[in-house]
Amino acid sequence: MRVSVLNGPNLNLLGTREPELYGSVSLDEIEQLVRSRASELEVELAWHQTNHEGTLVDLIQGLAGSADGAIINAAAFTHTSLAVRDGLLAVDVPFVEVHLSNIFAREEERRHSHLADLAIGIVAGFGAQGYLLGLDGLVQHLRRGVTRSAP
Ligand code: DQA
Repeated sequence: MRVSVLNGPNLNLLGTREPELYGSVSLDEIEQLVRSRASELEVELAWHQTNHEGTLVDLIQGLAGSADGAIINAAAFTHTSLAVRDGLLAVDVPFVEVHLSNIFAREEERRHSHLADLAIGIVAGFGAQGYLLGLDGLVQHLRRGVTRSAP
């Protein structure tokens, strides 16, 4: 099973960026945590971060044929980008939307996600742990699909 994790703008600054909101764990540290959980689950993991909307769209288009599912924290593009939404509609790859903070408890403009209704599920408000919860949920979802007829 292959899972891609896509991270959007400013997430490269995690650890020092608004730690009261996003915690003090860096993106590299989150990647290590997720890689270790992925290897326990025997999942092959790809990991990306970009600050650019078009690059995120390219990465989403690249999911087709290269990933069975994805974990996506599109950061601010979650709230603004129809291009990201359209990319996800085009590739039709199951994904979990992850946010470190609880976007529904924040400013009005962050309470809407252009991606949420396309996701299998959303994890928000659990900090770095959300990536692990998202991975567990995604893998369970994908494996359930494979073994649906089993007792
Ligand atoms: C975020 C929430 C977004 O509103 C914000 O723009 C981010 C990070 C989160 O993980 O909590 O950059 O996606």
